[in-house]
Amino acid sequence: MDKLVVEGGLRLKGEVKVSGSKNSVLPILAATLLTDAPCVIKGVPNLRDTVTMMRILRALGKSVEFDKGTVEVRAGRQHNLVADYKLVSTMRASFCVLGPLLGRFKKAKVSLPGGCVIGVRPVDLHIKGIRMLGGRVDIESGYIVAKTPGLKGTHIYLGGVYGSSVLATDNVMMAAVLARGKTVIEAAACEPEVADLGEFLIKMGARIKGHGTPTIEIEGVKHLRGTEHTIISDRIEAGTFIIASLMTKGDITIRNTSVRHLGALFDKLQEAGVAVRSAENGVRVSYRGKIKPVNVTTLPYPGFPTDMQAQMMSLMSVTEGISLITEKIYPDRFMHVPELNRMGARIQREGPHAIVEGVRYLSGAQVMASDLRASASLVLAALRAKGKTQIHRIYHLERGYEEIESKLQSLGARVWREKE
Ligand code: EPZ
Repeated sequence: MDKLVVEGGLRLKGEVKVSGSKNSVLPILAATLLTDAPCVIKGVPNLRDTVTMMRILRALGKSVEFDKGTVEVRAGRQHNLVADYKLVSTMRASFCVLGPLLGRFKKAKVSLPGGCVIGVRPVDLHIKGIRMLGGRVDIESGYIVAKTPGLKGTHIYLGGVYGSSVLATDNVMMAAVLARGKTVIEAAACEPEVADLGEFLIKMGARIKGHGTPTIEIEGVKHLRGTEHTIISDRIEAGTFIIASLMTKGDITIRNTSVRHLGALFDKLQEAGVAVRSAENGVRVSYRGKIKPVNVTTLPYPGFPTDMQAQMMSLMSVTEGISLITEKIYPDRFMHVPELNRMGARIQREGPHAIVEGVRYLSGAQVMASDLRASASLVLAALRAKGKTQIHRIYHLERGYEEIESKLQSLGARVWREKE
């Protein structure tokens, strides 16, 4: 295992290009199961999670080539309809192969994903949608075993206790595109990554309206063709570099990102007195002096993204004053709190809230990465901290940030990798 070592206190300056969106490419790779025709997907980041999904597609019988950001998925010699525990348990998103497998082959056996450090991660909404489409779903020794004589379109309310579900919306959408008749998904997730999946399915010949809005309408079709698609850029990676610029009192231009997809973050930063300026094919964020503390509550899109909560907490930990951060999507998503406190932050957790009292300095320390975005928040804190920080278990970081060290080094950061 490797660790990341960061020498903090340097201002980051220059420009960085954001990679393709992890959370868009994962369901789109799953969608290639809906056809035997070749699919070409461009702008794919080289991440642990994208490589895992390609391995799952190969295990399901696909032939997958990945070279310089382009994935070519073709039919293999035979179809396998079992997604096994070993692979699914390493990455929850692989659960979204259920919808396409059932929709196309009328049966599927997919391991239930485990929980993870950010929460229990139930799949009740996925199962509800599949059952309402006419799928028979049983749970047998940790696997979802689903079968159907043929899925039939219907009206599905997919809202849960925490609001909409991204991957449940993806799973149900992918099951419905080959179902007989019309499906309406109400309380659908509106994340840009769901909209991107909808675009991909439409290019394959699916008939979908309203993807990216709370109500998605799908007219089932008989079969889907292959297509070519370029993934949208990763708004969470962009947001992470925006915070990096502010944490280090720097000046960074972030290319290949869209202002459109980060409205809630920009709104909060504006409230904090930060000017985010548009730049060619991106944004420019320069530290302009004192940042004000702000309160943040995470919500489904277009609300403040839970995937940016830990990064915002890092910024608030060095912002004079008191901030209240409330996590409405994953109330336990605070693994970064004890690690930030080891670096001198003053954060107190109260259930789904974290009370952050800004401090003037953080100090380098040995810290432990736990989940993808918590790891990102530790890197951000380390870039600001005085002295050296060692971040252990950085495989969590590699799940979602492509070439993070070289991107940070290109901005002037002193960061390198060492063997544990
Ligand atoms: C997606 O996970 C993202 N992952 C997550 O990003 C992201 O944090 C999350 O959406 C919320 O935006 C991918 O897209 C691969 P949800 P997903 O279903 O779809 C509850 C990252 O860091 N829920 O939208 O699994 C759930 O417990 C990752 O890149 C149910 O109750 O999340 C949560 O409280 C982490 N029943 C809320 O809904 C269900 O059946 C939202 O979860 C499903 C979910």
